[in-house]
Amino acid sequence: MSASRCLIMQSEVQSFIERCMVAVGTKPGHATSLAEVLVEGDHRGHYSHGLNRMDMYVKDIQSGICAKEGEPTIVKESAATALVNGNNLLGPVVGNFCMDLAIKKAREVGIGWVVANGSNHFGIAGYYSMQALKENMIGMSYTNTSPLVVPTRAKECTLGTNPISVAAPAKDGDSFVLDMATSAVALGKVELHHRRGDDIPEGWGCDSQGKLSTDPGQVLSGGGLVPIGGCEATGGYKGYGLGLMVETFCGILAGAKYSKHVRTWKVTDRVADLGQCFVAINPENFAPGFNDRMSDLLTLHRNLEPAEQGTPVLSPGDPERFSIEKCTELGGIPYHLNVVNHMNGVAKAIGVNPLLPTNVPVPE
Ligand SMILES: NC(=O)c1ccc[n+]([C@@H]2O[C@H](COP(=O)([O-])OP(=O)(O)OC[C@H]3O[C@@H](n4cnc5c(N)ncnc54)[C@H](O)[C@@H]3O)[C@@H](O)[C@H]2O)c1
Repeated sequence: MSASRCLIMQSEVQSFIERCMVAVGTKPGHATSLAEVLVEGDHRGHYSHGLNRMDMYVKDIQSGICAKEGEPTIVKESAATALVNGNNLLGPVVGNFCMDLAIKKAREVGIGWVVANGSNHFGIAGYYSMQALKENMIGMSYTNTSPLVVPTRAKECTLGTNPISVAAPAKDGDSFVLDMATSAVALGKVELHHRRGDDIPEGWGCDSQGKLSTDPGQVLSGGGLVPIGGCEATGGYKGYGLGLMVETFCGILAGAKYSKHVRTWKVTDRVADLGQCFVAINPENFAPGFNDRMSDLLTLHRNLEPAEQGTPVLSPGDPERFSIEKCTELGGIPYHLNVVNHMNGVAKAIGVNPLLPTNVPVPE
């Protein structure tokens, strides 16, 4: 059994995040939206985008750099499109508003393409694309983020980790869920290696001269992450292109901040004004039998003979599905005690009751 991890009921994590956000003045409905996205991040095994990030949102509301009041507004609209002003509200409030609107439009005319400016960090991109699955539609979501990625042949960070998510429904509740940053890895992974004093694998980041480096210190001070694919010789320029594609759909299309004009990561000297993009597509408007073919496609891949025994071929979304199954088996979400202690410190400072772990032991 693990001495460093504890199990917390999903409902307790949800309520804890809501308690903390409301304590600093967030509207209860907005606090609920944020908590749902963060809990889903942890549930899906993306701990870098869950409870671990709560203090950032608490600070954003506390400092007033992110708006407490209001709702997103539609600036411009056609049957299939909309431009939304997020009015500097919490990212999940903007994301939910835009994705609901995209789905409504797709129900009416087959497709909904909605972009937002004036938004903030929205958590896992997959949360929004997956809303379309409930309506048996394809969903897509994108966001730009603070610059952390150095383009191929450059030395300076001008792109964020700009995630892409595409979700598509198959039969019997199965689905394809691609949800990925366009950097080779998340910044958190480099930070973790640095804290432990370990080298990072080649192909994660570069130094201030744009050369690949295995020293996390160099990547974090003056260097940056590299795009998916790593350096030019291993196809990094394709990840660079995907990062620019996300920026085109987000910052550029929405008229939000883009590229190096987005504020520095974790420096809240001005509003974020992130650009985000949400799309819903109704397969009913295309060839019949979408779900059947989607299931066939996923099965075809999952049934491939693995190159190594014991490591089956997966479909995007499967690792997250396994994480959810594990949480269901355990009866809650396992957390590292350091995260729980840190968040309880945040809670204490704002007069909120601490997170209550269960006494169920967590296997190693
Ligand atoms: N809001 C933001 O600013 C922001 C920025 C970057 C990332 N994120 C989020 O961080 C999370 C993590 O991103 P990531 O890029 O580290 O994810 P990841 O590398 O863990 O997974 C990326 C994708 O690959 C799939 N996958 C993993 N292993 C696989 C395998 N063996 N076979 C087939 N598919 C496989 C996963 O299901 C997922 O769809 C995502 O939810 C993303 O949206 C958010």
